[in-house]
Amino acid sequence: MECNRIRITDFRNIESAEIEFDRGVNILCGENAQGKTNLLEAISFASIGKSFRASRDEEMIRFGADCASVSLDFTDSQRRQNITLRMMAGKRKHIEKNNVKLGRVSDMVGAFRTVLFCPEHLSLIKDGPGERRNYLDIALSQLYPVYLKSLQRYNQILKQRNQLIRSAEEDRRSFDATVELWSEQLAREAAVISRYRYRYLKKAEEHIKSCFSEMMGEREKPTAVYLGSSKQSPEEYEDTERTEAVYRELLNSHHDREIGAGSTLWGIHKDDIEILLNNKSARLYASQGQQRSLALAMKLAEGDVCASICGETPVFLFDDVFSELDSSRRAYLSGKISDRQVIITTCEPSGIAGGKIITVKNGVFE
Ligand SMILES: Nc1ncnc2c1ncn2[C@@H]1O[C@H](COP(=O)(O)OP(=O)(O)O)[C@@H](O)[C@H]1O
Ligand SMILES: [Mg+2]
Repeated sequence: MECNRIRITDFRNIESAEIEFDRGVNILCGENAQGKTNLLEAISFASIGKSFRASRDEEMIRFGADCASVSLDFTDSQRRQNITLRMMAGKRKHIEKNNVKLGRVSDMVGAFRTVLFCPEHLSLIKDGPGERRNYLDIALSQLYPVYLKSLQRYNQILKQRNQLIRSAEEDRRSFDATVELWSEQLAREAAVISRYRYRYLKKAEEHIKSCFSEMMGEREKPTAVYLGSSKQSPEEYEDTERTEAVYRELLNSHHDREIGAGSTLWGIHKDDIEILLNNKSARLYASQGQQRSLALAMKLAEGDVCASICGETPVFLFDDVFSELDSSRRAYLSGKISDRQVIITTCEPSGIAGGKIITVKNGVFE
C-alpha cells in the first residue's frame, strides 16, 4: 500500500495543498501548531472515514469556509486508486472511490489501509478499556468491511436499547414488551464481533511477542488475552451460537439492574484486552518503560497482522512519536519501518533516518 498524493482544500488550517509522497520515509516537519497533525488527520480521514481526533466532521472544515475536501491517490498491490471526501456543514459527507459515489463510510474503509500511531497510544496499556477496544475496531474495520457494518448495527441497537432502559421507569409495560427483541439483536451482533476480536488478538499476539522480544530481549513474555464482557474463556468466542446464547441470557435476566444503572451492562461495548507480562497484568505490574514497549509492539503488530491477512503493508502514520521515545526504542522503530512507507510528523527532523522532508508553516507545505 502506498500513499502517492493528496490534494486538500479548506481542511483545518490548510487552505489549499497538493503533496506528493515518497515510497519510503516522509518527514513532515515544522514548529508547533503549523498543521502537521492536520495533514496526518486528512490522510487518516481518507483511510477510516472519520477523524482520529474530532468527534464531528464539521470541526475539520477550515474556520470561515463552507466546505472541506480531501482527495487521496494511493496504490495497492493491484492498481492506482482514489478516495475523495467532501464535507459541508450540516450535511452528510460526500464520498467517492475512483469517481464513483459511495453511500456509506463502511463502503470505503479498507481501501486505503493505514496504521496511525500517536503519543497517546503509548499509554494503551494504562488507558481505560475504551482505547483498547478502539484499537481493535480500527484494525478490524480496515480488514473486514462486515466487521464495521456489524459494529455500526450493534451501536445503533445499543443506543435504542439504552433509550428503552431509560424510559422503563415511566413506562414499564412497553419496556417489558419490546426489550427482548432488542436484546436478541444485540446478542447476535455481539457474538459475531466477539469472534472477530478474539481471532484478531490471537493473531496479533504472535506479532506482539516477537516485536517485544526484539526490543527487550527474550526474558519476559507478553500474552494478549481477549476479555469479553460475557466472561467466557477466550476460545469459547469461536462458537458464535454459544456466545449469542450467553449474551441473550445475560441481557434477559438482569432487567432491574440495568434499569437501575440506566444502561446496557453486557455487550462488546464492555470488552477489554488484557496484556500480561510473564503472566502478570502489565497494567498493574509492568514498569512504565515496559508498558510503552508493549504499546509500541501492539501498534507495530497492527501493521504486521494487516500484512499477513490481506497481503498489503499498510501505510504508517506517526504523529510526533519519535520525540516521545528513548534512543533504543527510536532505533528499533527506525529499523522496523525502513522497508515500508511511513509519514512522520516532527518538530525535530534530526535523528530520523533518511527520507523526503516536507516542511509546513501556517498550513502551507513545501
Ligand atoms: N477548523 C479549523 N480551521 C482553521 N484552523 C484550524 C482548525 N482546526 C484547527 N486549526 C488550527 O490548526 C492549528 C493546529 O494544527 P496542528 O496540525 O494540530 O499543529 P501541529 O503542527 O503542531 O501538529 C492550530 O493553530 C489551530 O488553530
Ligand atoms: Mg501535532
